[in-house]
Amino acid sequence: MRILTIMGTPHKGNTRAITDLFLKEFEDGNNSFDEIVLPNDFNKICFGCANCILKGEDKCPHYNEVNPLIKKIENADLIIMATPVFVGSCSSGLKTLLDHLAYMWLVHRPKESMFNKVGLIITTAGGSYVKQTVKLLKTNFSFLGVPRVYNYGITTMKMGGNYSDYKDKDKIKKRIHKKANKVKKALINNKVGFKTKFLYNLFKMTQKNGWNKIDVDYWKEKGWLDGKRPY
Ligand SMILES: Cc1cc2nc3c(=O)[nH]c(=O)nc-3n(C[C@H](O)[C@H](O)[C@H](O)COP(=O)(O)O)c2cc1C
Repeated sequence: MRILTIMGTPHKGNTRAITDLFLKEFEDGNNSFDEIVLPNDFNKICFGCANCILKGEDKCPHYNEVNPLIKKIENADLIIMATPVFVGSCSSGLKTLLDHLAYMWLVHRPKESMFNKVGLIITTAGGSYVKQTVKLLKTNFSFLGVPRVYNYGITTMKMGGNYSDYKDKDKIKKRIHKKANKVKKALINNKVGFKTKFLYNLFKMTQKNGWNKIDVDYWKEKGWLDGKRPY
């Protein structure tokens, strides 16, 4: 399996440490690993021109920088989004990459490859907002068409600490092992479930009377308005 980590921080702290514990679980010789570190690998802020949605993704002013990352995302079987909680949300590095994927949401021009993937969200917070950050990233995965999403959020009560000095590191390791096994099972037996089907069918209806020609043309070309499906 191809595992892509989208690491929302270059800081080698809690988020890195927890993510590395997960990645270790997948080091069994059958998996390959790739990583996008933000903002090192992409640091453009979305200007809100909406060119990607209205005119085509190649009209985004940051197309040359973001498109190679989208290829990496498309290529992965498991996508890990890892982020510290910053002021109640994900890191700005991760957020700006997600903004550049808006045109790939189910409401616009979803990519077939996203329906075969599994998502894993890793969040670390000092004290609060793990739930809200997980919810935000779950929404992104769902609207990109990813059918199975797992999460592991942890409140560290530390600012910039490291896993090696956590009191309950054995407990954390056990939980990560358990969660990683669930993710492994999902990767072998991935299915598009009710939620993804519901969202897909909802947005299919909106495309039938669509307001954005480029989206409607895309759905027509794919044959999705004539019974074909991306999953
Ligand atoms: C700018 C900034 C904002 C933060 N905002 C929050 C917050 O809203 N809620 C919270 O619980 N922790 C917050 N924290 C603490 C971090 O989420 C926490 O220490 C996290 O584990 C850091 O991850 P890292 O070690 O991978 O950098 C913040 C830290 C920074 C640097």
